[in-house]
Amino acid sequence: TRIEKAGYKHFMAKEIAEQPVVIADALKRYVQNGALHLPAEVDFTAVDRLTMVACGTASYACHVAKYWFEQIAGLPVEIDIASEFRYREPPLSPKQWALFVSQSGETADTLAALRYTRDKVAKIVAVVNVPTSSIAREADLALPIMAGIEVGVASTKAFSCQLTTLALLALKAAQDRGRLTPESLAQHLSDLAAIPGLMNHALALSTPIAAIAEELAEAQDVLFLGRGAMFPLALEGALKLKEISYIHAEGYASGELKHGPIALIDNRVPVIVLAPRDPLFEKTVSNMQEVMARHGKVLLISDAQGVAEAGSDCWKTITMPQVSDAFAPILYAIPAQLLAYHTAIAKGTDVDQPRNLAKSVTVE
Ligand code: G6P
Repeated sequence: TRIEKAGYKHFMAKEIAEQPVVIADALKRYVQNGALHLPAEVDFTAVDRLTMVACGTASYACHVAKYWFEQIAGLPVEIDIASEFRYREPPLSPKQWALFVSQSGETADTLAALRYTRDKVAKIVAVVNVPTSSIAREADLALPIMAGIEVGVASTKAFSCQLTTLALLALKAAQDRGRLTPESLAQHLSDLAAIPGLMNHALALSTPIAAIAEELAEAQDVLFLGRGAMFPLALEGALKLKEISYIHAEGYASGELKHGPIALIDNRVPVIVLAPRDPLFEKTVSNMQEVMARHGKVLLISDAQGVAEAGSDCWKTITMPQVSDAFAPILYAIPAQLLAYHTAIAKGTDVDQPRNLAKSVTVE
């Protein structure tokens, strides 16, 4: 099949816009008649630990999912980037599972890491976009993320579909481990079902985000901050921005700001704070105030309540729709992606084919 831009200027823009549809596809595949519908082999009853391995954007999806597996399912998770995992000789338990996340299913380091775990773990699970890929074929079980072909080198819809699939896996783990009442499972599933519709609202923020990006394009360095599951999203936001706009960006856990990056803050450094009005909001706001006290330019991305409570002294704000606390990272991927996209457009870089990067890295 020939993939076209379908009226969009770039594949990346098209793939960002497709997210409500492809996330709904993933939910349709793995949720049926109001219940989780995963292959029978996905039974976490006897699993004592999960090791997740990936590269790049896929590894940040793992870091978000760790919050879900640990908080909702009480299942300990450790994560490694594949290039480190494969040589570290990590001890593995025969009761644990190893989970490999890869859009292409062909990343050499991730494939080598998978091979390292063979015969050392109870099950090797692949969460992939390409169901015929090497990683899918070599795993005991492959779960497709349903994103459809992704052409833009900077991953967007694959990331949110990885998150959606991993969220459903975490719910299955919670169910198998007796951590979820039927009511709270139903609540989580309805929270996930709401995401595609909320994403349509978030996509409508493209124009105001483009206006902010015009100014962001002037920056030399940008910091992204988040707490809880928004921390790995801050890492992903920074990765997206540096990949396609070539602006130096770093993601940090909000609470870690004072242990180093605060030294960078002055009135030329935009600080992008990803902070829905959740139970951690006030902590993040106090970190944000430390930035503003040093004349940092804060862009607060929050919901209406968060912006009303803390947005007044910010450089800019983006008001997102209200979303469940647990699954906010899936929705907040949209403004992170749109900021990177529009900043790259403002700088005139090649959005779909950024310099020095490849869509799939099949060499070590
Ligand atoms: C490359 C791409 C990234 C991607 C990473 C992992 O570096 O440019 O966008 O996140 O590989 O790729 P995978 O196909 O394994 O998810």
